[in-house]
Amino acid sequence: MKVCQNMPLQNNHSAKNNYGICHPFIKWAGGKSRLISQLKNFIPEEFNNYFEPFVGSGALFFYLTSSFKIKKNFSLHLSDINSELINVYKTIKDDLKELIKELQYNENEYYKDPKKFYYKLRGERFPFDSIKEAARFITLNKTCYNGLYRVNKSGIFNVPIGSYIKPKICDFKNLTKVNRIMSIRNTTIENYDYQKISSKIKENDFIYFDPPYFPLNETSNFTNYTSYGFDISQQKRLANFFNELDKRKCKILLSNSDTTIIRDLYSSFKENIISLNTLRSINSNAEKRKNHSELIIKNF
Ligand SMILES: C[S@@+](CC[C@H](N)C(=O)[O-])C[C@H]1O[C@@H](n2cnc3c(N)ncnc32)[C@H](O)[C@@H]1O
Repeated sequence: MKVCQNMPLQNNHSAKNNYGICHPFIKWAGGKSRLISQLKNFIPEEFNNYFEPFVGSGALFFYLTSSFKIKKNFSLHLSDINSELINVYKTIKDDLKELIKELQYNENEYYKDPKKFYYKLRGERFPFDSIKEAARFITLNKTCYNGLYRVNKSGIFNVPIGSYIKPKICDFKNLTKVNRIMSIRNTTIENYDYQKISSKIKENDFIYFDPPYFPLNETSNFTNYTSYGFDISQQKRLANFFNELDKRKCKILLSNSDTTIIRDLYSSFKENIISLNTLRSINSNAEKRKNHSELIIKNF
Protein backbone atom coordinates (compact mmCIF):
# COMPACT_ATOMS: atom_id res chain seq x y z
CA MET A 1 0.00 0.00 0.00
CA LYS A 2 1.22 3.47 -0.79
CA VAL A 3 1.38 5.86 2.11
CA CYS A 4 -0.29 9.08 1.16
CA GLN A 5 1.60 12.19 2.07
CA ASN A 6 -0.74 15.14 2.48
CA MET A 7 1.72 17.96 2.15
CA PRO A 8 5.39 18.27 1.34
CA LEU A 9 7.39 17.10 4.36
CA GLN A 10 9.11 20.42 4.82
CA ASN A 11 7.91 21.39 8.20
CA ASN A 12 6.66 19.21 11.02
CA HIS A 13 3.91 21.65 11.85
CA SER A 14 2.78 22.58 8.37
CA ALA A 15 1.19 19.29 7.45
CA LYS A 16 -2.31 18.17 8.35
CA ASN A 17 -4.28 14.99 8.66
CA ASN A 18 -7.77 14.08 9.79
CA TYR A 19 -6.77 13.92 13.44
CA GLY A 20 -4.96 17.25 13.93
CA ILE A 21 -1.29 18.03 14.42
CA CYS A 22 0.02 16.78 17.72
CA HIS A 23 3.38 16.54 19.39
CA PRO A 24 5.01 14.38 22.09
CA PHE A 25 3.18 14.77 25.42
CA ILE A 26 6.37 14.35 27.46
CA LYS A 27 10.00 15.33 27.25
CA TRP A 28 12.22 12.26 26.94
CA ALA A 29 15.96 11.61 27.04
CA GLY A 30 17.04 10.87 23.48
CA GLY A 31 13.70 12.20 22.15
CA LYS A 32 13.87 12.95 18.43
CA SER A 33 11.80 16.16 18.17
CA ARG A 34 14.86 18.26 17.37
CA LEU A 35 16.00 15.82 14.71
CA ILE A 36 12.70 15.47 12.88
CA SER A 37 13.64 17.97 10.18
CA GLN A 38 16.51 15.63 9.26
CA LEU A 39 14.89 12.27 10.07
CA LYS A 40 11.86 12.93 7.87
CA ASN A 41 14.10 12.68 4.82
CA PHE A 42 14.61 9.00 5.57
CA ILE A 43 10.97 7.95 5.78
CA PRO A 44 10.35 5.48 2.94
CA GLU A 45 7.89 6.61 0.29
CA GLU A 46 5.93 3.44 0.42
CA PHE A 47 5.41 0.84 3.15
CA ASN A 48 2.69 -1.22 4.81
CA ASN A 49 2.60 -1.03 8.63
CA TYR A 50 4.63 1.09 11.03
CA PHE A 51 6.52 -0.18 14.11
CA GLU A 52 8.25 1.95 16.73
CA PRO A 53 9.51 -0.49 19.38
CA PHE A 54 11.62 2.01 21.39
CA VAL A 55 8.84 4.58 21.36
CA GLY A 56 9.85 6.90 24.26
CA SER A 57 8.07 10.20 23.56
CA GLY A 58 7.26 9.00 20.03
CA ALA A 59 8.59 12.02 18.11
CA LEU A 60 8.70 10.20 14.77
CA PHE A 61 5.33 8.54 15.38
CA PHE A 62 3.65 11.90 16.01
CA TYR A 63 5.37 13.40 13.00
CA LEU A 64 4.23 10.54 10.76
CA THR A 65 0.67 10.51 11.99
CA SER A 66 0.44 14.30 11.73
CA SER A 67 1.92 14.43 8.24
CA PHE A 68 0.51 11.42 6.47
CA LYS A 69 -3.02 10.44 5.80
CA ILE A 70 -3.67 7.20 7.66
CA LYS A 71 -5.12 4.64 5.33
CA LYS A 72 -7.68 2.09 6.43
CA ASN A 73 -5.52 -1.02 6.58
CA PHE A 74 -2.43 0.75 7.80
CA SER A 75 -1.54 -0.41 11.32
CA LEU A 76 0.67 1.36 13.86
CA HIS A 77 2.55 -0.50 16.59
CA LEU A 78 4.08 1.32 19.53
CA SER A 79 6.01 -0.40 22.28
CA ASP A 80 8.64 0.21 24.92
CA ILE A 81 10.12 -1.71 27.83
CA ASN A 82 9.28 1.08 30.29
CA SER A 83 6.01 -0.03 31.89
CA GLU A 84 5.20 3.36 33.48
CA LEU A 85 5.59 5.06 30.11
CA ILE A 86 3.39 2.53 28.31
CA ASN A 87 0.77 2.91 31.03
CA VAL A 88 0.60 6.61 30.10
CA TYR A 89 0.05 5.85 26.40
CA LYS A 90 -2.67 3.33 27.26
CA THR A 91 -4.37 5.72 29.69
CA ILE A 92 -4.42 8.54 27.14
CA LYS A 93 -5.97 6.13 24.67
CA ASP A 94 -8.53 4.49 26.99
CA ASP A 95 -9.22 6.85 29.93
CA LEU A 96 -8.57 10.37 28.72
CA LYS A 97 -11.40 12.04 30.64
CA GLU A 98 -10.31 10.65 34.01
CA LEU A 99 -6.69 11.41 33.25
CA ILE A 100 -7.50 15.04 32.45
CA LYS A 101 -9.30 15.35 35.82
CA GLU A 102 -6.25 14.03 37.67
CA LEU A 103 -3.90 16.29 35.74
CA GLN A 104 -6.03 19.34 36.45
CA TYR A 105 -6.01 18.46 40.15
CA ASN A 106 -2.20 18.02 40.09
CA GLU A 107 -1.75 21.31 38.24
CA ASN A 108 -3.82 23.24 40.82
CA GLU A 109 -2.03 21.64 43.76
CA TYR A 110 1.38 22.21 42.19
CA TYR A 111 0.68 25.91 41.61
CA LYS A 112 -0.22 26.36 45.31
CA ASP A 113 3.15 25.10 46.57
CA PRO A 114 5.37 23.58 43.85
CA LYS A 115 8.12 22.14 46.03
CA LYS A 116 5.84 20.61 48.63
CA PHE A 117 3.58 19.03 46.01
CA TYR A 118 6.43 17.78 43.79
CA TYR A 119 8.22 15.90 46.56
CA LYS A 120 4.99 14.53 47.98
CA LEU A 121 4.07 13.17 44.54
CA ARG A 122 7.57 11.88 43.87
CA GLY A 123 7.56 10.07 47.21
CA GLU A 124 4.34 8.21 46.45
CA ARG A 125 4.98 4.56 45.75
CA PHE A 126 2.59 3.60 43.06
CA PRO A 127 -0.95 4.35 44.02
CA PHE A 128 -2.03 1.13 42.25
CA ASP A 129 -4.46 3.02 40.11
CA SER A 130 -3.29 3.20 36.52
CA ILE A 131 -4.93 6.60 35.89
CA LYS A 132 -3.35 8.25 38.95
CA GLU A 133 -0.06 6.60 38.02
CA ALA A 134 -0.23 8.08 34.50
CA ALA A 135 -1.09 11.53 35.88
CA ARG A 136 1.81 11.27 38.33
CA PHE A 137 4.18 10.36 35.49
CA ILE A 138 3.14 13.29 33.29
CA THR A 139 3.17 15.72 36.22
CA LEU A 140 6.68 14.72 37.33
CA ASN A 141 7.88 14.86 33.72
CA LYS A 142 6.57 18.41 33.29
CA THR A 143 8.03 19.65 36.59
CA CYS A 144 11.24 17.69 37.21
CA TYR A 145 14.73 18.90 36.48
CA ASN A 146 15.37 18.97 32.72
CA GLY A 147 12.37 16.73 31.97
CA LEU A 148 14.64 13.81 32.70
CA TYR A 149 13.23 10.38 33.51
CA ARG A 150 15.73 8.54 35.65
CA VAL A 151 15.28 5.72 38.12
CA ASN A 152 17.69 4.25 40.66
CA LYS A 153 18.66 0.56 40.85
CA SER A 154 15.40 -0.23 42.64
CA GLY A 155 13.43 1.38 39.82
CA ILE A 156 12.44 4.46 41.86
CA PHE A 157 12.20 7.84 40.12
CA ASN A 158 14.81 10.09 41.74
CA VAL A 159 15.05 13.35 39.77
CA PRO A 160 14.90 16.66 41.72
CA ILE A 161 12.38 19.42 41.00
CA GLY A 162 13.12 21.72 38.04
CA SER A 163 12.69 25.48 38.03
CA TYR A 164 9.58 26.29 36.04
CA ILE A 165 7.10 29.11 36.44
CA LYS A 166 3.57 27.79 36.04
CA PRO A 167 4.41 24.83 33.78
CA LYS A 168 1.48 23.50 31.78
CA ILE A 169 0.80 20.13 33.37
CA CYS A 170 -2.60 19.52 31.81
CA ASP A 171 -2.27 20.13 28.06
CA PHE A 172 -5.87 19.27 27.26
CA LYS A 173 -5.66 20.18 23.57
CA ASN A 174 -2.62 18.10 22.72
CA LEU A 175 -3.71 15.13 24.83
CA THR A 176 -7.06 15.11 23.05
CA LYS A 177 -5.32 14.98 19.68
CA VAL A 178 -2.98 12.23 20.90
CA ASN A 179 -6.05 10.29 22.05
CA ARG A 180 -7.67 10.64 18.63
CA ILE A 181 -4.53 9.55 16.80
CA MET A 182 -4.13 6.51 19.03
CA SER A 183 -7.77 5.61 18.74
CA ILE A 184 -7.20 4.86 15.10
CA ARG A 185 -8.49 1.36 14.76
CA ASN A 186 -5.19 -0.35 14.18
CA THR A 187 -2.90 1.22 16.78
CA THR A 188 -1.41 -1.22 19.29
CA ILE A 189 0.48 -0.17 22.43
CA GLU A 190 2.58 -2.80 24.19
CA ASN A 191 4.95 -2.98 27.10
CA TYR A 192 7.66 -5.39 26.02
CA ASP A 193 11.16 -5.90 24.71
CA TYR A 194 11.63 -4.71 21.11
CA GLN A 195 12.26 -8.22 19.79
CA LYS A 196 8.72 -9.26 20.67
CA ILE A 197 7.50 -7.41 17.56
CA SER A 198 9.13 -10.12 15.43
CA SER A 199 6.04 -12.28 15.01
CA LYS A 200 3.92 -9.32 13.80
CA ILE A 201 6.32 -8.00 11.18
CA LYS A 202 5.80 -8.72 7.52
CA GLU A 203 7.54 -7.86 4.30
CA ASN A 204 7.49 -4.12 3.44
CA ASP A 205 6.67 -2.99 6.99
CA PHE A 206 8.62 0.05 8.20
CA ILE A 207 10.44 -0.16 11.55
CA TYR A 208 12.15 2.72 13.30
CA PHE A 209 14.66 1.58 15.94
CA ASP A 210 15.75 4.29 18.35
CA PRO A 211 17.48 2.35 21.15
CA PRO A 212 19.47 3.76 24.06
CA TYR A 213 22.67 4.92 22.36
CA PHE A 214 26.02 3.23 22.72
CA PRO A 215 28.03 5.71 24.88
CA LEU A 216 30.61 7.99 23.26
CA ASN A 217 32.64 7.54 26.44
CA GLU A 218 32.11 6.12 29.91
CA THR A 219 30.22 9.10 31.31
CA SER A 220 28.60 10.68 28.28
CA ASN A 221 25.41 8.77 27.74
CA PHE A 222 22.18 8.54 29.59
CA THR A 223 20.61 5.07 29.32
CA ASN A 224 18.72 4.68 32.63
CA TYR A 225 15.22 4.59 31.15
CA THR A 226 14.63 1.53 33.27
CA SER A 227 16.72 -0.24 35.86
CA TYR A 228 17.89 -2.75 33.19
CA GLY A 229 20.30 -0.67 31.06
CA PHE A 230 21.39 -1.34 27.45
CA ASP A 231 24.96 -2.59 27.17
CA ILE A 232 27.14 -3.80 24.28
CA SER A 233 25.59 -7.29 24.30
CA GLN A 234 22.19 -5.61 23.85
CA GLN A 235 23.57 -3.55 20.94
CA LYS A 236 24.80 -6.78 19.30
CA ARG A 237 21.42 -8.45 19.83
CA LEU A 238 19.74 -5.48 18.14
CA ALA A 239 22.17 -5.56 15.19
CA ASN A 240 21.37 -9.28 14.71
CA PHE A 241 17.66 -8.51 14.75
CA PHE A 242 18.22 -5.71 12.20
CA ASN A 243 19.93 -8.27 9.92
CA GLU A 244 17.12 -10.77 10.37
CA LEU A 245 14.46 -8.18 9.46
CA ASP A 246 16.53 -7.07 6.48
CA LYS A 247 16.36 -10.65 5.17
CA ARG A 248 12.59 -10.50 5.66
CA LYS A 249 12.53 -7.49 3.31
CA CYS A 250 11.34 -4.92 5.82
CA LYS A 251 12.31 -1.26 5.63
CA ILE A 252 14.43 -0.41 8.65
CA LEU A 253 15.71 2.87 9.99
CA LEU A 254 17.93 2.97 13.07
CA SER A 255 19.47 5.78 15.12
CA ASN A 256 22.56 5.39 17.27
CA SER A 257 25.73 7.15 18.31
CA ASP A 258 28.52 7.84 15.84
CA THR A 259 31.01 5.36 17.30
CA THR A 260 33.35 2.78 15.80
CA ILE A 261 31.49 -0.04 17.55
CA ILE A 262 28.16 0.92 16.00
CA ARG A 263 29.71 1.47 12.56
CA ASP A 264 31.30 -2.01 12.84
CA LEU A 265 28.09 -3.69 13.97
CA TYR A 266 26.28 -2.39 10.88
CA SER A 267 29.21 -2.57 8.44
CA SER A 268 27.22 -4.65 5.94
CA PHE A 269 24.99 -1.57 5.47
CA LYS A 270 27.88 0.88 5.21
CA GLU A 271 26.57 2.52 2.05
CA ASN A 272 23.50 3.45 4.05
CA ILE A 273 25.15 4.80 7.17
CA ILE A 274 24.57 8.54 7.35
CA SER A 275 26.00 10.94 9.86
CA LEU A 276 23.66 13.69 11.18
CA ASN A 277 24.54 16.84 13.10
CA THR A 278 22.54 17.35 16.24
CA LEU A 279 22.43 19.07 19.61
CA ARG A 280 22.22 16.81 22.64
CA SER A 281 19.41 18.02 24.90
CA ILE A 282 19.70 15.99 28.11
CA ASN A 283 22.84 17.06 29.85
CA SER A 284 23.01 18.93 33.12
CA ASN A 285 26.05 20.82 31.87
CA ALA A 286 25.04 23.40 29.22
CA GLU A 287 28.63 23.35 27.91
CA LYS A 288 28.23 19.70 26.99
CA ARG A 289 25.00 20.32 25.09
CA LYS A 290 27.04 21.17 22.04
CA ASN A 291 26.80 19.89 18.48
CA HIS A 292 27.82 16.34 17.83
CA SER A 293 27.12 13.82 15.13
CA GLU A 294 25.02 10.72 15.36
CA LEU A 295 24.18 7.95 12.93
CA ILE A 296 21.22 6.93 10.85
CA ILE A 297 21.47 3.42 9.47
CA LYS A 298 18.97 2.13 6.94
CA ASN A 299 18.55 -0.82 4.60
CA PHE A 300 16.59 0.84 1.79
C1 LIG B 1 16.38 6.90 22.76
S1 LIG B 1 14.90 6.49 23.63
C2 LIG B 1 13.70 6.60 22.36
C3 LIG B 1 13.35 8.02 22.10
C4 LIG B 1 12.17 8.19 21.15
N1 LIG B 1 12.51 7.92 19.79
C5 LIG B 1 11.62 9.62 21.26
O1 LIG B 1 11.48 10.31 20.26
O2 LIG B 1 11.33 10.04 22.39
C6 LIG B 1 15.09 4.77 23.90
C7 LIG B 1 13.86 4.05 24.46
O3 LIG B 1 14.13 2.64 24.47
C8 LIG B 1 13.46 2.04 25.57
N2 LIG B 1 14.09 0.72 25.79
C9 LIG B 1 15.27 0.42 26.40
N3 LIG B 1 15.52 -0.90 26.32
C10 LIG B 1 14.50 -1.45 25.60
C11 LIG B 1 14.20 -2.77 25.16
N4 LIG B 1 15.01 -3.81 25.41
N5 LIG B 1 13.06 -2.97 24.43
C12 LIG B 1 12.21 -1.94 24.16
N6 LIG B 1 12.44 -0.66 24.58
C13 LIG B 1 13.57 -0.42 25.27
C14 LIG B 1 13.62 3.06 26.68
O4 LIG B 1 12.64 2.87 27.68
C15 LIG B 1 13.49 4.39 25.91
O5 LIG B 1 12.16 4.85 25.93
